[in-house]
Amino acid sequence: MSSQSLYQVPSDIANNALVNNDQYKKMYQESIVNPEGFWREHGKRVDWIKPYSKIKQTSFDDHNLSIEWFYDGTLNASANCLDRHLEDNGDKVAIIWEGDDAAEQRKITYKELHADVCKFANALRSQGVARGDVVTIYMPMVPEAAVAMLACARIGAVHSVVFGGFSPDSIASRVIDGKSKVVITADEGIRGGRKIPLKDSVDQALSNPDVQCVEKVIVLNRTGGDINWVEGRDIWWESIMDVASEHCAYEEMNAEDPLFLLYTSGSTGNPKGVLHTTGGYMVYASMTHEYVFDYKDGEIYWCTADVGWITGHSYMVYGPLANGATILIHEGVPNYPSPARLGEMIDRHNVNILYTAPTLIRALMAEGKEQFDGFDGKSLRIMGSVGEPINPEAWRWYHEVIGREHCPIVDTWWQTETGGILISPLPGATDTKPGSATRPFFGVQPALVDNMGNIIEGAAEGNLVILDSWPGQMRTVYGDHDRFALTYFKTFRGMYFTGDGARRDEDGYYWITGRVDDVINVSGHRLGTAEVESALVAHELVAEAAVVGYPHDIKGQGIYAYVTLSRGIEATEELRLELRQWVRKEIGALATPDLIQFAGGLPKTRSGKIMRRFLRKIAANEITNLGDSSTLADPAVIDTLIETRLNKA
Ligand code: PRX
Repeated sequence: MSSQSLYQVPSDIANNALVNNDQYKKMYQESIVNPEGFWREHGKRVDWIKPYSKIKQTSFDDHNLSIEWFYDGTLNASANCLDRHLEDNGDKVAIIWEGDDAAEQRKITYKELHADVCKFANALRSQGVARGDVVTIYMPMVPEAAVAMLACARIGAVHSVVFGGFSPDSIASRVIDGKSKVVITADEGIRGGRKIPLKDSVDQALSNPDVQCVEKVIVLNRTGGDINWVEGRDIWWESIMDVASEHCAYEEMNAEDPLFLLYTSGSTGNPKGVLHTTGGYMVYASMTHEYVFDYKDGEIYWCTADVGWITGHSYMVYGPLANGATILIHEGVPNYPSPARLGEMIDRHNVNILYTAPTLIRALMAEGKEQFDGFDGKSLRIMGSVGEPINPEAWRWYHEVIGREHCPIVDTWWQTETGGILISPLPGATDTKPGSATRPFFGVQPALVDNMGNIIEGAAEGNLVILDSWPGQMRTVYGDHDRFALTYFKTFRGMYFTGDGARRDEDGYYWITGRVDDVINVSGHRLGTAEVESALVAHELVAEAAVVGYPHDIKGQGIYAYVTLSRGIEATEELRLELRQWVRKEIGALATPDLIQFAGGLPKTRSGKIMRRFLRKIAANEITNLGDSSTLADPAVIDTLIETRLNKA
């Protein structure tokens, strides 16, 4: 192992950590050799109403798929995040909230959070929500977002959180898929000094004639801004909370009852409703939160993710609250009003553990170190990274400028589908290498396979698969179990295919190289190229579109669209702007193409299939070694595309 690239575990961390390297190896070994025994023990970390006797029934055979954990046990997720802490820690702060405007601050104890969740759970029941119903949540980053989620969990309703940056059409398709009767939103959100018209987006979504299921819209008064009001359908959050009781018995849920749906993009079709269930998810989210961040009782933990993503579910809400942590929730963005905001918040709240994304680190890096001159950072102990590969320069900057060279970095690899972290260093156990997610968590068996599905051993590069189930794994695609089997278990028979490529080095460390399918990762947000293409071709002047990712300094990947206009339509700058706005309106701001190249033709085979590898290379400005173009129907197309490419570095 080359020592230059190795960051050893600081001895003070190793000595006080939950696990050191020897313990990691022993526990990992045990988790693989004797998974039943391992999880029988660790499943006890959550409170069960009826303890489980069955541990796991899992098969990745696509004809005989089975993923069940702790399946004769019963529990309630909200009770695990709240009630279990009341006796000893009721007065402990559960949520510290800081508004977009730092002058707005709130602190909510576990006792208060419990009361709010009980009240809102009763309020939901009063609006007709019952066990098993899907409730759509479209909220800003306020404590009430967590209250809404936990209230659903309390009464056995299934929440489906939609990221507040998604468009009305995206809300509509998710509401329809889940057949939601109730939508929870706020009048407006506030981010980076701007108001976000959330209620207005919900109104637009529900005016879609295909949305017939919604009966009630519950609206939190966040800004007092002007909104449209539909009598009989819309209800103020405050008005139903005022009359609700603080007592609400929680539902007894089976371990395999659904906890939530969260939609995520794949390489084809509409976003999939990823379904997570209760028991295994709670065990896995809380256990990974404790071990990966070496969380200690009393620590202040800040995850900068939005609640609309899986990181916000597992590592802002369920994992840390199950562990009784004090979490910091920030309404806005950590580089507003200035790049110093992140450091100011760490110091102001004495944050011990910070979990954020490479895209933010790169954005701060671009602003210069002097932005952090006034930053103390003494409270900080552990730092995490998630969402996309972190480039070594950004890793080192994070380590030096934010971590003051003494905080271990955990580069955590996982997915919406995995529910929790699968590959990551453990702070007290794993020497780190900038850019590597390092080693698997307990119970996780990663492997690399070639394109035929043969397992490759040793130092190698290949497709990343997982060989057996872990408790936090998704159970199905909501309403489409065949799609679940097809997407994840058919490409490589008998294995879970992640969609990622990875390299394993001579020390057995994993380096994620990025998606090998048609999914792109823009600022840590996952998008299917097919989604952006279908938004583009929905525009009346567009005949055809092909979308690829290309390397982007801050976002990791940018969106590069090749667009063929309908016959006779002139390619103008105005049209380019209009198309960018169009995609933004159809999907949301995060899907806005960075570059749109108008193309007379696209590289196609004689049978009409678009050869995307040429498009990826041209977008990345890698034009010297394009490969064999002899199978193209019209190889001359390539020359024109190269000449008119937009990313000439
Ligand atoms: O490509 C991997 C990348 O993000 C994808 C999962 O995206 P999503 O479901 O939105 O979940 C993001 C938050 C867990 C993965 O397939 N990814 C995530 N974490 C890392 C990563 N790539 C490299 N390193 C990571 N630490």
